[in-house]
Amino acid sequence: MFYRKKKLIIEKVPVHKIARQFGTPIYCYSFNQLKRNILNFKRNFTKIRPLICFAVKANNNYRILSEIGRLGLGADVVSRGELIVALKSKIHPKKIVFSGVGKTYDEIEFAARKKIFLINAESQSEIETISKVAKKIKRSIDIGIRLNPNVDAKTIKEITTGKYSNKFGLIEKDVFKLIKQFKNSKYLNIKCLSVHIGSQITSHIPYIKMLRSLQKIISKSKYRFEYVDLGGGMGINYGKNTKLLDYKKYSKEIEKFVKKNNVKIIFEPGRSLIGNAGYLLSKIIYIKKTNKINFIILDTGMNDLMRPALYKAYHNIIPVKKNSSKISKRHEFVGPICESTDKFLSLKSYQKLSEGDNIVICDVGAYGKVLSSNYNLRKNANEILIKSSKVFKIGRKDHLQNIF
Ligand SMILES: Cc1ncc(COP(=O)(O)O)c(C=O)c1O
Repeated sequence: MFYRKKKLIIEKVPVHKIARQFGTPIYCYSFNQLKRNILNFKRNFTKIRPLICFAVKANNNYRILSEIGRLGLGADVVSRGELIVALKSKIHPKKIVFSGVGKTYDEIEFAARKKIFLINAESQSEIETISKVAKKIKRSIDIGIRLNPNVDAKTIKEITTGKYSNKFGLIEKDVFKLIKQFKNSKYLNIKCLSVHIGSQITSHIPYIKMLRSLQKIISKSKYRFEYVDLGGGMGINYGKNTKLLDYKKYSKEIEKFVKKNNVKIIFEPGRSLIGNAGYLLSKIIYIKKTNKINFIILDTGMNDLMRPALYKAYHNIIPVKKNSSKISKRHEFVGPICESTDKFLSLKSYQKLSEGDNIVICDVGAYGKVLSSNYNLRKNANEILIKSSKVFKIGRKDHLQNIF
């Protein structure tokens, strides 16, 4: 994304033309940015040669998943619905891992019958349920055991998952117990030790602590895991936090870990692959000027993009057509929803704006569209994929049919 003659361009497409042709609000994805992110991710871990399973929860658009599959990735799913979409997108079952704390018997049976790669289990009860399913289908099921390492990922509190106060994973003592109990099971094959400590992580330190916890499990249990699933969580630059994850340091530590334990690595990245490839294009409906604040009322709201309302996430907002003016007054970008939390960004100054102008909310490719709703009975935003100078409508109606 860049400006040419003060007009915003995604790949080779002027954004104001998208607004004119497709209307707003609309989610726009850049294929080239997605591809670059995937290639960079692979490059960061070349020596490890991991199985990379895209976290479908970050973006479950069928067309996006198909592209991701074509670029060689697998999928990390957390529901039957996500599993169906991943399979429909032609992601090979042997590259799919199933995570989540509350998989039902039916979901587990469905996944097992599809012969997916791995089911990551998060509780004693879940493991027993998987075992029952295996008995029913008369076949052993490959599982991972997810450890809760009690490591603070130093990220937004609401997206921290690896502390004892979080519902995710099993505490160390229970992991040892379950390995002992099920290592010779006829129905379960403990193939993997898994972990995921949170999202939008910008330091390698929590990851290193996480590796130490995994090491302790492997060394003390003396169990030979074939795989270790390190989850995802790699943070991106939303335009505010300049500090980013040091991939080199993280990767070096993993290399040592792999050598020592002779294991293969799985990653489950979501945000780092698709986050900055998505833009939410919107139009200013009204500008309401009060003494202190100019309220910029957009045609998109928290029903389209929930992250700012949900956990005060920061998303930059940029004009589709730049001008050189600067209005030194607080500008508050808000949506039309009847909630005071329906607010995207508040800035001390902004360029001169007019009603009818288009703006773009940046970095919304991950946890954007997937968290949207019809709140206030608003219509869902459309989605398009931009590939060079071509634009594809990538609606969901067809591929979501018969999913539930
Ligand atoms: C189990 C699991 N794996 C992977 C992810 C993806 O995380 P991220 O999008 O931060 O890479 C999540 C999201 O929190 C998750 O819960």
